[in-house]
Amino acid sequence: MDTVAELSRDEILAILTREVELLAAEGETALAISSDAIARLKNFRGDTDFAHDEDRRSGQATKRTRDKLCAAENCIPPTPPFSLADGTKEERWNELRDIVLGCAECKKHLKPGKVIVFGAGNLNADIFFCGEAPGAEEEECGVPFVGRAGKLLDKVIEAMGLQRSNVYVGNIMNWRPEMDTPFGNRPPTQEEMNFCLPYLRAQVEIVSPKVIVALGATAANGLLGYDETRRMADVRGRWHEFLSIPLMVTYHPSYLLRNTSNGAKRLLWQDMLLVMERLSMEISERQRNFFL
Ligand code: URA
Repeated sequence: MDTVAELSRDEILAILTREVELLAAEGETALAISSDAIARLKNFRGDTDFAHDEDRRSGQATKRTRDKLCAAENCIPPTPPFSLADGTKEERWNELRDIVLGCAECKKHLKPGKVIVFGAGNLNADIFFCGEAPGAEEEECGVPFVGRAGKLLDKVIEAMGLQRSNVYVGNIMNWRPEMDTPFGNRPPTQEEMNFCLPYLRAQVEIVSPKVIVALGATAANGLLGYDETRRMADVRGRWHEFLSIPLMVTYHPSYLLRNTSNGAKRLLWQDMLLVMERLSMEISERQRNFFL
């Protein structure tokens, strides 16, 4: 992992910008910043080299990234049609997995040595957790939610009295959205999501869960239909539907890693209690009072 000392100012600025964009995508409208952080940012901006050369260059870099993204968006073709043979859940899932792992468009977006990430878990699960896109750890091994966000998701699942092996976990995206920096993640574009969505839909159809949990704004946009004005505050904690299956929208675990306030954790947990109630799962007093 890179330490901040090893990163250039351009890279640090890109990370900060992306963090703020991700928080905004989750519906945050304000940020609490410590006075120490404000002082550091003032120093950062006060650097004359940065204020001139690098500032200008980072502006150009942002535009370059946007241009590249637009070019990539335009190149994304429609999802190739596919159909699955009749068979057991396992057979259909294996066939779908082969289709996705062989998908030329998905492969086109991989960096050298990285792999496509397909959903994983119990094909008879009652709960289907849907995330956004693979991150650095996932694109190494091809399994969703194995990094820090995944560890937190595991804790949530365990707090519900379940194990990862009881649920199914998938993502809107099957590849990690490309960045022109070696670090960081960006939310997928609408075109990227549209390309991968049929693969996710087919997984939902195979697993046929009783409840889907959309983790974060991207999953909500993928499953409910893209709407850039949608705010997490308006959709989380409420029941929606995807393919006539009850869909709960909640925070993405990465959001909780960035926003460590108990308030956000409590809201996510309230959403999970609604899921447990919907599934008539037993809820202990301890679980009810979790985070309170
Ligand atoms: N975040 C996601 O949304 N999905 C993953 O698989 C990992 C991190």
